Amino acid sequence: MKNYIQADEWNIIEEGFDPHLNKISESIFSLGNGHMGQRANFEEAYSGETLQGNYVAGVYYPDKTRVGWWKNGYPEYFAKVLNAANWIGIDIVIDGIQLDLSQCKVISFKRVLNMQQGYLERFFVAELSNGNQVSVAAKRFCSIVDEEAGAIRYSITPLNFSGEVKIMPFIDGDVSNYDANYDEKFWDHVDQQAAGLDTYLMLETRKTNFVVCTGSRFAVHQNGQLVAVEAQPILKDKYVASVFTLNLVQGQETVIYKYAANVSSQNYAPEDLPGACKAVIDRVAAKGFETMLQEQADAWQKKWDESDIVIEGDVSAQQGIRFNIFQLSQTYTGKDARLNIGPKGFTGEKYGGSTYWDTEAYCVPFYLATAPQQVTKNLLVYRYNQLGKAIENATKLGFNKGAALYPMVTMNGEECHNEWEITFEEIHRNGAIAYAIFNYIRYTGDQDYLVDYGLEVLIGIARFWKQRVNWSNAKKQYVMLGVTGPNEYENNINNNWYTSTLATWCMGYAIEALNYVKAQAADKCQALLGRLNFNEADETGAWQHIIDNMYYAEDKEHGIYLQQDGFLDKEIIHVKDLDPSQRPLNQKWSWDRILRSCFIKQADVLQGFYFFRDQYDIDTLRRNYNFYEPLTVHESSLSPCIHAILASRLDLADDAYNFYLRTSRLDLDDYNNDTEDGLHITSMAGTWMSVVEGFAGMHVQDDTLKFEPFLPAKWKSFSFNVGFRKNTLNVKIVADGVRITNLSGSALSVNVFDKPVLIEAGAEAFVVR
Ligand code: BGC
Repeated sequence: MKNYIQADEWNIIEEGFDPHLNKISESIFSLGNGHMGQRANFEEAYSGETLQGNYVAGVYYPDKTRVGWWKNGYPEYFAKVLNAANWIGIDIVIDGIQLDLSQCKVISFKRVLNMQQGYLERFFVAELSNGNQVSVAAKRFCSIVDEEAGAIRYSITPLNFSGEVKIMPFIDGDVSNYDANYDEKFWDHVDQQAAGLDTYLMLETRKTNFVVCTGSRFAVHQNGQLVAVEAQPILKDKYVASVFTLNLVQGQETVIYKYAANVSSQNYAPEDLPGACKAVIDRVAAKGFETMLQEQADAWQKKWDESDIVIEGDVSAQQGIRFNIFQLSQTYTGKDARLNIGPKGFTGEKYGGSTYWDTEAYCVPFYLATAPQQVTKNLLVYRYNQLGKAIENATKLGFNKGAALYPMVTMNGEECHNEWEITFEEIHRNGAIAYAIFNYIRYTGDQDYLVDYGLEVLIGIARFWKQRVNWSNAKKQYVMLGVTGPNEYENNINNNWYTSTLATWCMGYAIEALNYVKAQAADKCQALLGRLNFNEADETGAWQHIIDNMYYAEDKEHGIYLQQDGFLDKEIIHVKDLDPSQRPLNQKWSWDRILRSCFIKQADVLQGFYFFRDQYDIDTLRRNYNFYEPLTVHESSLSPCIHAILASRLDLADDAYNFYLRTSRLDLDDYNNDTEDGLHITSMAGTWMSVVEGFAGMHVQDDTLKFEPFLPAKWKSFSFNVGFRKNTLNVKIVADGVRITNLSGSALSVNVFDKPVLIEAGAEAFVVR
């Protein structure tokens, strides 16, 4: 664990330069705008330890799989979000010496991520080997207004000398992925240009043939005045720069503005890319840096109005939650149904930048409550559009008749994961996708979604589960064999309670959805069922038979559901009795030892209690929580949030708060020693869930938004905004109750502490605990 980020409500601040922390900071201070993003690499050269990262959403490379023993059904490739052309580069050479913080004395250094307004700043004073001292202030952002653009203001002031500086703004596309399986480069050169102040570089990805045009234009100011410079082009393989020299006068500031754009063949015909790129640059350069920055601040204000959580009395918790919300909002903006949320977003390469069940199980609740409805809908439509591939995927594994198995990891709908126990067995992801449809409709009331998209997906998923279970003659019930649940520290187990529960729920929900669509849109329903060759009586009859006759592992004596058959044969040891030097288990123990142990990586049975809150009484929840929580090592960042929510329901306020702390500052404090690889973006949604669904107890039941809040002892109050069905509410939890302000133009009835509360438009209600 590290503790070097200064506490501040709106800013992430690092003071002093420690090269050992640089890769961690590059992750933490990352920028993004849904369309593109980048790690907080330096503009000027840096020869120290760094992980260079620039990413364009949706642009990936199918890196050939590396695997020991090939198994039929494995995918040929693992999709990687590509490290793309670096557009931030500005090389600086002063009196013949390159400015490089790794090669000079760093007298002062400060990095600030301004989350309120959405930009990154860096200030430093460096002394070069000849004693020249220079002060630099760099400010940059990826615009959330002009999403294909970014801008930099880079200022240099010589402190104790006057001299000559060579300045070289560049775009470097000769980049590679650190995690490339065969050390290959993934980009081919297409075209390049450098003329005057403009540079353009067009590259194409190998195999996937995405073409990306990256362009930039710079302007130089001295004494606040635009300076005309004579720039010479430098063209190299996949690299383009302009170089010019200037005289620096002691104490006088020189400012370089760099406007950049990234446009891709996802949105333009390849031949139109140079023109499109130039058009973006023309537009933003005409606005100028300060106008762009003001627009950025205004747009971020709007995002914060929808999504902020304000915590009074705990600056570090405040900073933590805002950091999570900020990074989520930078990663996914929901404008494009082809995009999704990679576990590392735009902050690193790990996990390939692809889509996991994390999106449906963890991110959907966040976007539902904090962004316009369309944002979540696009996440769902993403899966709808990939239904064909999910059916192909299931067919490849031996299923038939339109059964759909969504991939564990994907970019375009094809499976990328290649560990048999996950690829073939961690099938609960299919259920999360169905659950997200349910959750979306429950929250938004948008039943039409079922008609237009949802039912078709639900049928494909239900067909899969029907074929995945089998009748056990011994048990005279249906069983599900060879499964890996969310707890990946068990593989190839039988009758994983969570997966079986989810499977039958999916089949029941598919029947319910079918009945709804039949009643509401008979013609469309008929057409769909015809297209799917759906034999209603046979198929729904079979689903219902499974629902009525499914076997669920349980232990009546303890009154708990069993994570899987035979779980109680394990030696039951509590995590608190483990030698701390043995943690994390996945780094200290052999896999064999982990599999045989009782320790749980991530909520599994308890994940089911979270999803199906209304189906189990509080005593059943308590017994299961008391049994499983002490066995859980939370070695997935997705785990603690579920425990925080359930602990809140069980009035275990301290436990809930401690679980929240584990996710809230996971990356800021580098708890797991892995922040340098990138941030845990999807688990950040879990942090939000811990506060809103945990501490505030927010959930939807019978079309009503309900709150059962408590105030963590360390906080004076916390408040947040949520959107619910065309209404926006501000909810403030204080020690003796809850104040809800209805910020919208229509009245809304909510439920607080189990009491109905009608709040008129623009009015507020205070409900005493
Ligand atoms: C977790 C999975 C998760 C994946 C990506 C793994 O460590 O066990 O549940 O989907 O990370 O976040």
